[in-house]
Amino acid sequence: MLLYALFLFASSMKIVSGADWCYQSQVTCNHTCIGPDVWGVVSQHCSGRAQSPVNIVTRRLLPDERLTPFHFIGYQETFHGHLINNGHAVQLDLPTSIRIRGGNLPATYKALQFHLHWGKDGGPGSEHTIDGEQFPVEMHIVHIKEEYDSLSQAVSDRAGVAVLGFLFQESASSNKKFDPLINALKSIPQPTNSTTLKGVSLDMFIPPQDNMTKYFRYDGSLTTPNCSEAVVWSLFESTIPLSREQLAAFSQLQFSDGEQMVKTYRPVQPLNGRQVYYSGGHVALASTMLLIISVLVSSSSFLHTTV
Ligand SMILES: *[C@@H]1O[C@H](CO)[C@@H](O)[C@H](O)[C@H]1NC(C)=O
Ligand SMILES: *[C@@H]1O[C@H](CO)[C@@H](O)[C@H](O)[C@H]1NC(C)=O
Ligand SMILES: *[C@@H]1O[C@H](CO)[C@@H](O)[C@H](O)[C@H]1NC(C)=O
Ligand SMILES: *[C@@H]1O[C@H](CO)[C@@H](O)[C@H](O)[C@H]1NC(C)=O
Ligand SMILES: [Zn+2]
Repeated sequence: MLLYALFLFASSMKIVSGADWCYQSQVTCNHTCIGPDVWGVVSQHCSGRAQSPVNIVTRRLLPDERLTPFHFIGYQETFHGHLINNGHAVQLDLPTSIRIRGGNLPATYKALQFHLHWGKDGGPGSEHTIDGEQFPVEMHIVHIKEEYDSLSQAVSDRAGVAVLGFLFQESASSNKKFDPLINALKSIPQPTNSTTLKGVSLDMFIPPQDNMTKYFRYDGSLTTPNCSEAVVWSLFESTIPLSREQLAAFSQLQFSDGEQMVKTYRPVQPLNGRQVYYSGGHVALASTMLLIISVLVSSSSFLHTTV
Protein backbone atom coordinates (compact mmCIF):
# COMPACT_ATOMS: atom_id res chain seq x y z
CA MET A 1 0.00 0.00 0.00
CA LEU A 2 2.81 2.36 0.94
CA LEU A 3 4.72 1.38 -2.20
CA TYR A 4 1.63 1.99 -4.28
CA ALA A 5 1.21 5.42 -2.74
CA LEU A 6 4.86 6.15 -3.47
CA PHE A 7 4.35 5.00 -7.03
CA LEU A 8 1.33 7.26 -7.51
CA PHE A 9 3.32 10.12 -6.01
CA ALA A 10 6.29 9.36 -8.28
CA SER A 11 4.02 9.09 -11.31
CA SER A 12 2.41 12.41 -10.58
CA MET A 13 5.87 13.94 -10.24
CA LYS A 14 6.79 12.38 -13.62
CA ILE A 15 9.78 10.67 -12.04
CA VAL A 16 8.61 7.31 -13.34
CA SER A 17 8.65 7.35 -17.12
CA GLY A 18 5.54 5.50 -18.24
CA ALA A 19 4.72 2.25 -16.45
CA ASP A 20 7.81 0.47 -17.66
CA TRP A 21 8.93 -2.52 -15.61
CA CYS A 22 12.55 -3.52 -15.35
CA TYR A 23 14.91 -5.94 -13.61
CA GLN A 24 16.73 -5.08 -10.38
CA SER A 25 20.00 -4.61 -12.32
CA GLN A 26 18.37 -1.65 -14.16
CA VAL A 27 17.22 0.18 -11.04
CA THR A 28 19.68 3.02 -10.35
CA CYS A 29 19.41 6.51 -8.91
CA ASN A 30 19.32 7.87 -12.46
CA HIS A 31 16.95 5.33 -13.95
CA THR A 32 13.91 4.96 -11.75
CA CYS A 33 12.13 2.19 -13.59
CA ILE A 34 9.78 -0.23 -11.83
CA GLY A 35 11.92 -3.02 -10.35
CA PRO A 36 10.72 -6.51 -9.28
CA ASP A 37 9.90 -5.40 -5.71
CA VAL A 38 7.14 -3.12 -7.04
CA TRP A 39 5.92 -5.01 -10.12
CA GLY A 40 2.64 -5.22 -8.23
CA VAL A 41 1.94 -1.64 -9.29
CA VAL A 42 2.32 -2.58 -12.98
CA SER A 43 -0.02 -5.55 -12.57
CA GLN A 44 -1.71 -6.72 -9.40
CA HIS A 45 -1.14 -10.35 -10.48
CA CYS A 46 2.56 -9.87 -9.59
CA SER A 47 1.51 -9.64 -5.90
CA GLY A 48 -0.46 -12.90 -6.13
CA ARG A 49 0.09 -16.00 -4.01
CA ALA A 50 1.13 -18.44 -6.77
CA GLN A 51 4.03 -16.60 -8.34
CA SER A 52 7.15 -17.80 -10.17
CA PRO A 53 10.05 -18.45 -10.07
CA VAL A 54 10.54 -20.45 -6.85
CA ASN A 55 13.36 -22.13 -5.00
CA ILE A 56 12.99 -25.91 -5.27
CA VAL A 57 13.78 -27.64 -1.99
CA THR A 58 14.62 -31.20 -3.01
CA ARG A 59 13.88 -32.79 0.38
CA ARG A 60 10.29 -31.45 0.21
CA LEU A 61 9.55 -32.85 -3.26
CA LEU A 62 6.65 -35.25 -3.60
CA PRO A 63 7.18 -38.01 -6.22
CA ASP A 64 4.21 -38.25 -8.60
CA GLU A 65 4.01 -41.27 -10.88
CA ARG A 66 1.56 -39.48 -13.19
CA LEU A 67 4.46 -37.27 -14.32
CA THR A 68 5.35 -39.50 -17.26
CA PRO A 69 7.73 -38.44 -20.08
CA PHE A 70 6.42 -35.78 -22.50
CA HIS A 71 5.62 -36.36 -26.14
CA PHE A 72 7.58 -33.77 -28.09
CA ILE A 73 5.86 -33.21 -31.43
CA GLY A 74 7.80 -31.41 -34.18
CA TYR A 75 10.83 -30.82 -31.97
CA GLN A 76 13.02 -32.35 -34.73
CA GLU A 77 11.47 -30.16 -37.45
CA THR A 78 13.86 -27.67 -39.08
CA PHE A 79 12.65 -24.08 -39.38
CA HIS A 80 13.79 -20.49 -39.95
CA GLY A 81 13.12 -18.60 -36.72
CA HIS A 82 12.79 -14.90 -35.97
CA LEU A 83 15.28 -14.00 -33.19
CA ILE A 84 14.65 -10.70 -31.41
CA ASN A 85 16.10 -8.53 -28.67
CA ASN A 86 12.79 -7.56 -27.04
CA GLY A 87 14.31 -5.17 -24.50
CA HIS A 88 14.12 -7.64 -21.60
CA ALA A 89 15.49 -10.85 -23.17
CA VAL A 90 16.42 -12.57 -26.40
CA GLN A 91 13.51 -14.48 -27.87
CA LEU A 92 13.13 -17.00 -30.70
CA ASP A 93 9.65 -17.28 -32.21
CA LEU A 94 8.62 -20.87 -32.88
CA PRO A 95 6.30 -22.49 -35.45
CA THR A 96 2.99 -23.49 -33.81
CA SER A 97 3.29 -26.92 -35.44
CA ILE A 98 5.60 -27.67 -32.48
CA ARG A 99 3.54 -29.25 -29.70
CA ILE A 100 3.79 -31.08 -26.40
CA ARG A 101 1.46 -33.47 -24.60
CA GLY A 102 1.75 -36.10 -21.90
CA GLY A 103 3.54 -35.45 -18.62
CA ASN A 104 0.12 -35.18 -16.92
CA LEU A 105 -0.66 -31.97 -18.82
CA PRO A 106 -4.43 -31.47 -19.13
CA ALA A 107 -4.28 -30.85 -22.90
CA THR A 108 -2.02 -30.60 -25.93
CA TYR A 109 -0.07 -27.32 -26.00
CA LYS A 110 1.47 -25.51 -29.00
CA ALA A 111 4.77 -23.65 -28.90
CA LEU A 112 4.97 -19.85 -29.18
CA GLN A 113 8.57 -18.90 -28.39
CA PHE A 114 11.56 -19.56 -26.24
CA HIS A 115 13.65 -16.96 -24.45
CA LEU A 116 16.46 -16.94 -21.92
CA HIS A 117 17.32 -15.37 -18.57
CA TRP A 118 20.97 -14.87 -17.62
CA GLY A 119 23.49 -13.29 -15.26
CA LYS A 120 26.47 -11.01 -15.81
CA ASP A 121 29.39 -12.37 -17.84
CA GLY A 122 28.42 -15.99 -17.10
CA GLY A 123 27.71 -15.46 -13.38
CA PRO A 124 24.48 -16.54 -11.59
CA GLY A 125 21.39 -15.77 -13.69
CA SER A 126 18.68 -18.45 -13.55
CA GLU A 127 15.19 -17.66 -12.25
CA HIS A 128 14.45 -20.97 -10.50
CA THR A 129 16.97 -22.13 -7.94
CA ILE A 130 17.53 -25.66 -6.60
CA ASP A 131 18.25 -25.87 -2.87
CA GLY A 132 19.28 -22.23 -3.11
CA GLU A 133 21.69 -22.71 -6.01
CA GLN A 134 21.32 -20.27 -8.89
CA PHE A 135 22.47 -21.48 -12.31
CA PRO A 136 24.09 -19.24 -14.98
CA VAL A 137 21.24 -19.31 -17.56
CA GLU A 138 17.63 -20.52 -17.74
CA MET A 139 15.68 -21.15 -20.93
CA HIS A 140 11.87 -21.09 -21.11
CA ILE A 141 9.96 -22.74 -23.95
CA VAL A 142 6.49 -21.15 -23.77
CA HIS A 143 3.48 -23.19 -24.97
CA ILE A 144 -0.26 -22.42 -24.83
CA LYS A 145 -3.25 -24.76 -25.02
CA GLU A 146 -4.06 -25.59 -28.66
CA GLU A 147 -7.49 -23.97 -28.40
CA TYR A 148 -6.10 -20.46 -27.78
CA ASP A 149 -4.77 -17.99 -30.36
CA SER A 150 -2.46 -15.93 -28.16
CA LEU A 151 -0.71 -15.75 -24.81
CA SER A 152 -3.07 -13.01 -23.62
CA GLN A 153 -6.02 -15.33 -24.36
CA ALA A 154 -4.34 -18.32 -22.68
CA VAL A 155 -3.62 -16.50 -19.40
CA SER A 156 -7.31 -16.33 -18.53
CA ASP A 157 -7.08 -20.13 -17.94
CA ARG A 158 -5.28 -21.37 -14.75
CA ALA A 159 -3.55 -24.02 -16.89
CA GLY A 160 -3.56 -22.12 -20.18
CA VAL A 161 0.23 -21.94 -20.45
CA ALA A 162 2.83 -24.73 -20.18
CA VAL A 163 6.43 -23.61 -19.80
CA LEU A 164 9.34 -26.04 -20.08
CA GLY A 165 12.31 -24.69 -18.11
CA PHE A 166 15.94 -25.69 -18.59
CA LEU A 167 18.87 -24.78 -16.36
CA PHE A 168 22.33 -24.32 -17.85
CA GLN A 169 25.65 -25.31 -16.37
CA GLU A 170 29.18 -24.20 -17.25
CA SER A 171 31.17 -26.82 -19.16
CA ALA A 172 34.84 -26.96 -20.13
CA SER A 173 34.11 -27.28 -23.86
CA SER A 174 31.67 -25.26 -25.92
CA ASN A 175 28.26 -26.58 -27.00
CA LYS A 176 28.40 -26.42 -30.82
CA LYS A 177 24.62 -26.71 -31.14
CA PHE A 178 24.25 -23.28 -29.51
CA ASP A 179 26.73 -21.55 -31.85
CA PRO A 180 24.10 -20.36 -34.39
CA LEU A 181 22.10 -18.67 -31.60
CA ILE A 182 25.14 -17.25 -29.82
CA ASN A 183 26.75 -15.98 -33.03
CA ALA A 184 23.49 -14.23 -33.94
CA LEU A 185 23.52 -12.17 -30.71
CA LYS A 186 26.03 -9.72 -32.18
CA SER A 187 23.55 -8.72 -34.88
CA ILE A 188 20.82 -7.81 -32.35
CA PRO A 189 22.60 -5.61 -29.77
CA GLN A 190 19.71 -3.19 -29.21
CA PRO A 191 16.01 -3.62 -28.38
CA THR A 192 13.79 -4.24 -31.44
CA ASN A 193 16.80 -5.50 -33.47
CA SER A 194 16.04 -8.89 -34.98
CA THR A 195 17.54 -11.49 -37.29
CA THR A 196 16.65 -14.91 -38.70
CA LEU A 197 18.09 -18.17 -37.40
CA LYS A 198 18.16 -20.48 -40.40
CA GLY A 199 17.76 -24.23 -40.35
CA VAL A 200 17.43 -24.77 -36.61
CA SER A 201 15.29 -27.27 -34.72
CA LEU A 202 14.16 -27.23 -31.09
CA ASP A 203 15.90 -30.48 -30.22
CA MET A 204 19.26 -28.76 -30.92
CA PHE A 205 18.69 -26.63 -27.83
CA ILE A 206 17.53 -29.20 -25.28
CA PRO A 207 19.01 -32.34 -23.67
CA PRO A 208 18.50 -35.72 -25.40
CA GLN A 209 14.97 -37.04 -24.76
CA ASP A 210 16.26 -39.94 -22.65
CA ASN A 211 17.55 -37.31 -20.24
CA MET A 212 14.22 -35.47 -19.97
CA THR A 213 12.25 -37.95 -17.90
CA LYS A 214 13.15 -36.22 -14.64
CA TYR A 215 11.48 -32.90 -13.95
CA PHE A 216 9.87 -30.76 -11.25
CA ARG A 217 6.22 -29.72 -11.57
CA TYR A 218 4.26 -26.96 -9.86
CA ASP A 219 1.58 -24.37 -10.65
CA GLY A 220 2.84 -20.82 -10.98
CA SER A 221 2.96 -17.69 -13.08
CA LEU A 222 4.68 -15.86 -15.89
CA THR A 223 7.93 -14.43 -14.45
CA THR A 224 7.47 -11.01 -16.08
CA PRO A 225 4.54 -8.59 -15.78
CA ASN A 226 1.68 -9.14 -15.95
CA CYS A 227 2.71 -12.24 -13.94
CA SER A 228 -0.53 -14.09 -14.78
CA GLU A 229 -1.04 -17.19 -12.61
CA ALA A 230 -1.74 -19.44 -15.57
CA VAL A 231 1.39 -21.56 -15.90
CA VAL A 232 1.94 -25.29 -15.46
CA TRP A 233 5.70 -25.35 -14.82
CA SER A 234 7.98 -28.25 -15.76
CA LEU A 235 11.60 -27.64 -14.82
CA PHE A 236 14.00 -30.32 -16.03
CA GLU A 237 16.66 -31.80 -13.79
CA SER A 238 19.12 -32.43 -16.64
CA THR A 239 21.12 -29.28 -17.38
CA ILE A 240 22.36 -27.82 -20.69
CA PRO A 241 26.14 -27.37 -20.90
CA LEU A 242 27.66 -24.14 -22.30
CA SER A 243 31.25 -22.90 -22.04
CA ARG A 244 32.05 -19.82 -19.96
CA GLU A 245 32.46 -17.78 -23.19
CA GLN A 246 29.08 -18.93 -24.49
CA LEU A 247 27.37 -18.12 -21.18
CA ALA A 248 29.03 -14.69 -21.11
CA ALA A 249 27.97 -13.89 -24.72
CA PHE A 250 24.46 -12.90 -23.61
CA SER A 251 25.93 -9.96 -21.68
CA GLN A 252 26.82 -8.21 -24.96
CA LEU A 253 23.12 -7.40 -25.49
CA GLN A 254 21.80 -4.02 -24.33
CA PHE A 255 18.72 -2.71 -22.59
CA SER A 256 16.95 0.27 -24.16
CA ASP A 257 19.06 2.76 -22.15
CA GLY A 258 22.23 1.31 -23.70
CA GLU A 259 23.34 -0.42 -20.49
CA GLN A 260 24.48 -4.07 -20.60
CA MET A 261 21.52 -6.48 -20.58
CA VAL A 262 22.55 -8.51 -17.52
CA LYS A 263 20.93 -10.22 -14.50
CA THR A 264 17.65 -10.61 -16.33
CA TYR A 265 15.91 -12.69 -13.68
CA ARG A 266 13.10 -12.19 -11.22
CA PRO A 267 14.00 -13.12 -7.61
CA VAL A 268 12.39 -16.31 -6.24
CA GLN A 269 8.87 -15.98 -4.87
CA PRO A 270 7.25 -17.64 -1.81
CA LEU A 271 5.55 -21.01 -2.39
CA ASN A 272 2.67 -20.05 -0.05
CA GLY A 273 1.83 -23.68 0.60
CA ARG A 274 2.18 -24.92 -2.97
CA GLN A 275 3.58 -28.44 -3.39
CA VAL A 276 6.35 -29.12 -5.90
CA TYR A 277 6.14 -32.58 -7.46
CA TYR A 278 8.87 -34.71 -8.97
CA SER A 279 8.53 -37.22 -11.79
CA GLY A 280 9.72 -39.86 -9.34
CA GLY A 281 7.41 -42.63 -10.58
CA HIS A 282 10.23 -44.18 -12.56
CA VAL A 283 12.49 -44.31 -9.56
CA ALA A 284 9.73 -46.06 -7.60
CA LEU A 285 9.08 -48.40 -10.54
CA ALA A 286 12.77 -49.26 -10.84
CA SER A 287 13.04 -50.09 -7.13
CA THR A 288 9.84 -52.19 -7.30
CA MET A 289 11.37 -54.12 -10.21
CA LEU A 290 14.56 -54.66 -8.21
CA LEU A 291 12.51 -55.93 -5.27
CA ILE A 292 10.59 -58.39 -7.49
CA ILE A 293 13.81 -59.58 -9.12
CA SER A 294 15.53 -60.09 -5.78
CA VAL A 295 12.50 -62.00 -4.45
CA LEU A 296 12.53 -64.18 -7.58
CA VAL A 297 16.27 -64.74 -7.33
CA SER A 298 16.15 -65.65 -3.64
CA SER A 299 13.12 -67.94 -4.08
CA SER A 300 14.81 -69.69 -7.01
CA SER A 301 17.98 -70.19 -5.01
CA PHE A 302 15.78 -71.49 -2.17
CA LEU A 303 14.32 -74.01 -4.63
CA HIS A 304 17.77 -75.00 -5.80
CA THR A 305 19.05 -75.67 -2.31
CA THR A 306 16.00 -77.65 -1.22
CA VAL A 307 15.52 -79.76 -4.34
C1 LIG B 1 23.73 9.91 -13.39
O1 LIG B 1 23.54 11.05 -14.23
C2 LIG B 1 24.58 12.00 -14.12
C3 LIG B 1 24.21 13.24 -14.96
O2 LIG B 1 23.57 12.85 -16.16
C4 LIG B 1 25.91 11.37 -14.58
O3 LIG B 1 26.96 12.31 -14.47
C5 LIG B 1 26.20 10.16 -13.71
O4 LIG B 1 27.36 9.51 -14.17
C6 LIG B 1 25.02 9.19 -13.75
N1 LIG B 1 25.25 8.11 -12.79
C7 LIG B 1 25.07 6.83 -13.10
C8 LIG B 1 25.33 5.85 -12.01
O5 LIG B 1 24.71 6.46 -14.20
C1 LIG C 1 -2.96 -9.55 -18.25
O1 LIG C 1 -3.90 -10.27 -17.45
C2 LIG C 1 -5.24 -10.27 -17.89
C3 LIG C 1 -5.99 -11.22 -17.03
O2 LIG C 1 -6.23 -10.72 -15.78
C4 LIG C 1 -5.38 -10.65 -19.35
O3 LIG C 1 -6.69 -10.54 -19.77
C5 LIG C 1 -4.45 -9.82 -20.19
O4 LIG C 1 -4.56 -10.21 -21.54
C6 LIG C 1 -3.05 -9.98 -19.70
N1 LIG C 1 -2.11 -9.30 -20.54
C7 LIG C 1 -1.10 -9.94 -21.14
C8 LIG C 1 -0.23 -9.09 -21.98
O5 LIG C 1 -0.88 -11.11 -21.00
C1 LIG D 1 19.07 -1.76 -33.83
O1 LIG D 1 18.05 -0.93 -33.33
C2 LIG D 1 18.45 0.42 -33.16
C3 LIG D 1 17.37 1.12 -32.38
O2 LIG D 1 16.11 0.84 -32.90
C4 LIG D 1 18.72 1.02 -34.52
O3 LIG D 1 19.10 2.36 -34.39
C5 LIG D 1 19.86 0.21 -35.19
O4 LIG D 1 20.06 0.65 -36.48
C6 LIG D 1 19.51 -1.27 -35.20
N1 LIG D 1 20.67 -2.01 -35.60
C7 LIG D 1 20.62 -3.04 -36.44
C8 LIG D 1 21.91 -3.75 -36.69
O5 LIG D 1 19.58 -3.38 -36.98
C1 LIG E 1 22.40 -37.52 -19.90
O1 LIG E 1 22.32 -37.98 -18.58
C2 LIG E 1 23.46 -38.73 -18.16
C3 LIG E 1 23.18 -39.27 -16.77
O2 LIG E 1 22.78 -38.27 -15.88
C4 LIG E 1 24.69 -37.84 -18.20
O3 LIG E 1 25.83 -38.55 -17.81
C5 LIG E 1 24.87 -37.32 -19.61
O4 LIG E 1 25.95 -36.41 -19.63
C6 LIG E 1 23.61 -36.63 -20.08
N1 LIG E 1 23.79 -36.27 -21.48
C7 LIG E 1 23.60 -35.04 -21.89
C8 LIG E 1 23.91 -34.81 -23.33
O5 LIG E 1 23.18 -34.14 -21.19
ZN1 LIG F 1 11.08 -16.60 -18.91
